[in-house]
Parts: sequence; structure tokens; C-alpha cells
Amino acid sequence: MKRQPMAPSVALAADHGGITLKNELLPWIQSRGYAVTDLGAATFDSSDDYPDFAEAVGRAIISRKAERGILVCGSGVGACIAANKLPGIRACLCHDVYSAHQGVEHDDMNVLCLGGRVIGPELAKDLVDAFLRASFGGEERHRRRLAKVLELERKATTKSNIKNQNEK
Ligand code: RB5
Repeated sequence: MKRQPMAPSVALAADHGGITLKNELLPWIQSRGYAVTDLGAATFDSSDDYPDFAEAVGRAIISRKAERGILVCGSGVGACIAANKLPGIRACLCHDVYSAHQGVEHDDMNVLCLGGRVIGPELAKDLVDAFLRASFGGEERHRRRLAKVLELERKATTKSNIKNQNEK
């Protein structure tokens, strides 16, 4: 399928808990016209670690190599926690379609996390579809809330604040 106009580019990755679902999602997302970068795992390895894949997807977004990320681990939880440690990443575990698009529309979520041991491929496709079709609405109240989220991140990551927090 031809790439849809304005379709976001996608970085996709999974650990061993999510690789089966990731490998099913990859050709399906491509068939919908999205450019997808597969950041691993390339093969099943029970000793691989979800933070490594979360970092790869997060860095792809931060460096603007991709506009959206999809992370799959066993539950989706670990990948989500790890991805949110990266500045500029707004990742969420969504196993319902409403949250998968509303999280983008209101909260500018840029990474969707899925649990490969929790949901099946057909629900996962619906979630990915809702996530990738959605865009940030930009209403004033959502911008205001997003600005507060970004301010939380800035306060938590600036050097002087880190020093003050450690001294408390
Ligand atoms: C790996 O066994 C599993 O812990 C991981 O994929 C994920 O579910 C963590 O949240």
C-alpha cells in the first residue's frame, strides 16, 4: 500500500515477551502504508531486557528518526516504565481503543506499549490503528496540561534541581 499522506513514521521494538506479537504487527503496519523501523529483537532470546528496546524506540523519537513508537513486552508495563524515563517520551500501556487514540489527542502520547502475553493480534491491530490515526488536538486546555507535564520533566532533569532533590 502507498504511504498515507501525513502518516507518522513508526519505530517498533519488543523483548522476548513481545517478539511474537511484534513480528505479526510489523508487516501489518507496513501494509497500512506506514514506514516502520524494526529496532529488534531480531530473534527470540529469553535473556534480552525490555529497557534496551525501550531506549532504542525512545532515542529514535528523540532524534526524530521516527514520529511514533510502539513497544511490546510481556505485559507492556516494563517497556512503558522504561520508555518514560527518556525526556520527551510520553509512553502509555493501552489495551483499550479509546485510550489508544485519546492519549494522542489529549496528551500527545508518542509511544504505545502493548503486552504480548495479554492481548491477541487482532485487538493489537485495532489499538495500533487507533494510535497511528490519531493526532494531538491542540486545544488550549490540552496544551496547558502538556506544558505542565513538560515542566515536571524539566524540573526533574535540570542539574540544579537534581542536586537540590539529592540534598533533601
Ligand atoms: C519478560 O519476561 C517480562 O518480564 C517483560 O517482557 C515484561 O513483561 C516486563 O514488564
